[in-house]
Amino acid sequence: MKIIEVKDYQQMSRLAACIISEKVRSQNRLNLGLATGETPKGTYNYLIKDFNHNGTSYEEVYTFNLDEYVPLSMDNPNSYRFYMNHFLFNHLDIPMSHTFLPLGNATDLENECVRYEKQIEDHGGIDLQLLGIGKNGHIGFNEPRTSFISKTHVVTLTSLTREANARFFERPEDVPKQAITVGIETIMKSKEILLLASGESKREAMNELLHGELSEDFPASILRLHPDVTVIADQTALKGIQVEGYSFTKC
Ligand code: GLP
Repeated sequence: MKIIEVKDYQQMSRLAACIISEKVRSQNRLNLGLATGETPKGTYNYLIKDFNHNGTSYEEVYTFNLDEYVPLSMDNPNSYRFYMNHFLFNHLDIPMSHTFLPLGNATDLENECVRYEKQIEDHGGIDLQLLGIGKNGHIGFNEPRTSFISKTHVVTLTSLTREANARFFERPEDVPKQAITVGIETIMKSKEILLLASGESKREAMNELLHGELSEDFPASILRLHPDVTVIADQTALKGIQVEGYSFTKC
């Protein structure tokens, strides 16, 4: 794992956007794995700025999001589809037909999981996967003790995750209890992974990611076995944690 320590959230977001847009420009047809939550919003902002100023085109890009709340429909402002349209897709030249998320309101959820996993495979898999990290080490919505060999599946969210995400909802009880998430195996099949972490609330998770045990109790620990993972974290998230720094020259 390459660890890049940056000053703050803005620098983290700028560097992440630079790495992603560079990839979009250099690869003819790209499958991007995308994340939601607070962390990637800055990155998406910088991608939009780059699109406006440098004209980086997303016409040949396909996107696959990590997860979606059950049973939210795509027009629900709390759905991840709504978030992605609002914070990114509406501002780029990406055809909407190239953007994919699991359908949280599918009538047959098990079927939907199989369909989504196959959709990713049929498109040739993820080239670059963007990840955030939950305080308990979840990636996507793969909560602690999810099998490392899981594919896209339905999850019951932990109370910690529901509490952490309550800030996005009007009332805490509005946070859905379930979600569809791509599995850990699905994430590990990505050719390249970029994980972002910012702020004090992610410090414990960063310590565990870098120095804890490889265990299904901390899902993100599996990333240590992936051949191409870059972690961009800010000073606050890494404070007091021993890090073997890596300097990045491409951006
Ligand atoms: C959410 C999402 C994850 C995200 C994580 C961290 O529940 N399902 O994909 O990476 O939790 O969220 P945040 O960036 O808001 O801290």
